[in-house]
Amino acid sequence: MNFVNKILQGDTIEVMKNLPEKSFDFCFADPPYFMQIEEGKKLFRVEGTEFDGCDDDWDKFASMDSYKDFTRKWLCEVRRLLKDNGSICVISGMQSIYEIGSILRELGFWVINDIIWKKTNPTPNFGGTRLNNSHETLLWASKSKKAKFTFNYKTGKFLNGGKQMGSIWEFPVCSGNERLKDDDDKKLHNTQKPEALLYRVIALFTHMDDLILDPFGGTMTTGAVAKRMGRRFTMIERDSKYISYGQRRLDTVVPVITDVENAVFDQKPLKVSVKEMVEAGYFHIGEEFFNKHGEKAILVEATGKLDYHNKTKSMHEVAAEMMGQERRVNAFDYLFVLRDGKMVSIDEIRNLYRKMKIKQ
Ligand SMILES: C[S@@+](CC[C@H](N)C(=O)[O-])C[C@H]1O[C@@H](n2cnc3c(N)ncnc32)[C@H](O)[C@@H]1O
Repeated sequence: MNFVNKILQGDTIEVMKNLPEKSFDFCFADPPYFMQIEEGKKLFRVEGTEFDGCDDDWDKFASMDSYKDFTRKWLCEVRRLLKDNGSICVISGMQSIYEIGSILRELGFWVINDIIWKKTNPTPNFGGTRLNNSHETLLWASKSKKAKFTFNYKTGKFLNGGKQMGSIWEFPVCSGNERLKDDDDKKLHNTQKPEALLYRVIALFTHMDDLILDPFGGTMTTGAVAKRMGRRFTMIERDSKYISYGQRRLDTVVPVITDVENAVFDQKPLKVSVKEMVEAGYFHIGEEFFNKHGEKAILVEATGKLDYHNKTKSMHEVAAEMMGQERRVNAFDYLFVLRDGKMVSIDEIRNLYRKMKIKQ
């Protein structure tokens, strides 16, 4: 069965049973929250208009036990479908996030972080009877404690203006042009998630071309953002109406690939040795290496050993000695060579060599 970049229709547990194990890098799941809105109970805004909350049939369960049973079953299937180093992000509200978290742990998932999505424009508590419920929680978990899950740390820092990304994320709820309408100009779906939230999740927790599973597709927000970001997706949904509007949405998406999508900030620099740089003529045996005060040592071995005060040591040991440091330092942060009469950091020379190697 071809399931890549497709919407699969049916009951999510049954559909997942037919997919091959360990196929997916990541799962974003926005399941029924089991809001338990009282049958027939209407909510009114302060000015008197009716508020259209989530009282859809797909969110109804006979009891918390049956909700937990359903949660255990779909999470078991996701677990089977995730690669060993895969991870999952499940979103829900206080109505069910504790049960979901407990079942995740019971099944062997390892909760890495809980993320608070703080809504900048939450629905008010119309009756003024309790706190305004202004956040939802995302549980980010790997398949096991030892899994090497994807985390684009530096991309997160970049997206957060140079500061380490925290676990409280502020976004408005989905509204305006982003909100899908049906042909009668009515809101298509009660729980459409904002693209900005999915953008951050996908940027931080996946790589380019990764295959992402969403077992509760709805308006296909996950697929739309995944496609825009150069990732692949499999969306599962039962409702034909959501599928038909969701497919239209997916068809209009054009990929936009920037440094964030490519996670260039997180790419590890190419490993190169001093020996190969000497062989390529980037350093020369007998040349002088300086610290910032002009003190010098001589490169005497292609392995990177320097002669300093008539003793031959590794360049890192010499750099530490020159800088009066007892701890081990990285010589590439401290030493310079002369090029065209100017002091150039040996790190800069190494970067030039890396660039040349990548181009080759
Ligand atoms: C919370 S909504 C997901 C909304 C989606 N994230 C979006 O941004 O539009 C959950 C979706 O799961 C679907 N659903 C619920 N139970 C399902 C089941 N057992 N099998 C397949 N789909 C299901 C519902 O029809 C609903 O569209």
